[in-house]
Amino acid sequence: MDATDKFRNIIEKYKTPLFVYDRDIILSKIEDMKQTIGENFEIVYSMKANPNPVLLQLFHSSNLLFEVASSGELSLLLNCGIAPEKILFAGPGKTADELKFCVDKKILSINVESMREIATLETICSEQNTNVDICLRININLDSIANRRELNWFSTSKFGIDEHCLDEIVVFLRSHKRVRCIGLHVHMASNVTNHEILTEYLFAICHQIINIMDKFKITLKIVNFGGGWGNPNYLGERELDSYNLRQTYKKIAYLLKNSKINGRMLVESGRYLIGSAGYYIADIVDIKERANKNIIVINGGINHMLFLSSAFRIRGKQIPIGYIRKNKKCSKREVSAKKIYEIGGSLCTPIDYMANHAELPSDLKPGDYLVFTNAGAYTKMASPLNFLGHDWPSEVLLSHGEGHLIASPISLNDIISLQNRLQQD
Ligand SMILES: Cc1ncc(COP(=O)(O)O)c(C=O)c1O
Repeated sequence: MDATDKFRNIIEKYKTPLFVYDRDIILSKIEDMKQTIGENFEIVYSMKANPNPVLLQLFHSSNLLFEVASSGELSLLLNCGIAPEKILFAGPGKTADELKFCVDKKILSINVESMREIATLETICSEQNTNVDICLRININLDSIANRRELNWFSTSKFGIDEHCLDEIVVFLRSHKRVRCIGLHVHMASNVTNHEILTEYLFAICHQIINIMDKFKITLKIVNFGGGWGNPNYLGERELDSYNLRQTYKKIAYLLKNSKINGRMLVESGRYLIGSAGYYIADIVDIKERANKNIIVINGGINHMLFLSSAFRIRGKQIPIGYIRKNKKCSKREVSAKKIYEIGGSLCTPIDYMANHAELPSDLKPGDYLVFTNAGAYTKMASPLNFLGHDWPSEVLLSHGEGHLIASPISLNDIISLQNRLQQD
């Protein structure tokens, strides 16, 4: 891929390393997802994937709900003017302060993951003479499809409440009068790009939810199918088949309605909505030619793109990487011989590699740029940004052919002085 035309002006104006998000791609992902799930389901954006406020506004204006996992994320959404009734809070280890914040703000749902959370909420509500609506986050038994490695599913985990504990939990809940269970939440899969596997998983959830509702005679106002939608992150992966998935969601909506579940049906997503809209662009600082290796060193690294380190070292996967020549005169039609490169960042740690088998032109030079695709989700804010004190990269939104700065670079000095100032207060 030669990404010259799309990015050259942005790079010249804002300098690298930087992230670029393509607004058209984000909007088309939202639209794809809406079309696929149909009007019975609502989309919840998992902001942990990318919490940039301008992107949050874009999702908000497309009428999405939001899922948060900390009071920091909740505060940010509220500061962006997003109404509490559009927000769900899920995640293990919610502290009493976080639970109180959710009760105070009256968010749409706290997705409760343990008995301790129920008891803490009861205490908070008694103190405030109020009640709270919650969803139970449950782990259903997926033994029948557990051989599907692609589900990224772990049988016992710190998340949610296991299905076999439900009898006990329901008795416990019924003895806590101020905490009312209004829904169920299942999130046990991530990044599934095969629609057949995703379909099996969604039907397993659907059947279990119907069973639970029948068994415990509960009325569900919210049925949350969690995430799972994958993005073709790596070389050789394919897009989810949205035609077939559409049939799946139609059948699920029918099954739930037939079982008298008339609550809101939710689908969560982070990476599908924002992953492929993002690009990470860095300068080539150095090229080292060794006897058996060609090594490119860039002015960024896993301090901005942590997931890439494990992608190829643990999973053996490579992402597509493009390039842009510094010298405009090199036409993109010019065909150069290719070479295999290792690509490393500028951190002093051997885990700071982004790829070990990138096929790129053999005549790349320091000053040329590399463009890492699928860099919209779980990148900048999911990386050790401060390690070794390089500036935080900027973020730019590409909209109607123009780049708009939506996050400026920040130096280690800025961050440390902010923290020291806060400590003196
Ligand atoms: C509860 C919950 N829902 C949804 C997601 C989003 O997952 P993805 O980005 O793979 O769509 C996550 C991710 O960790 C999650 O914890």
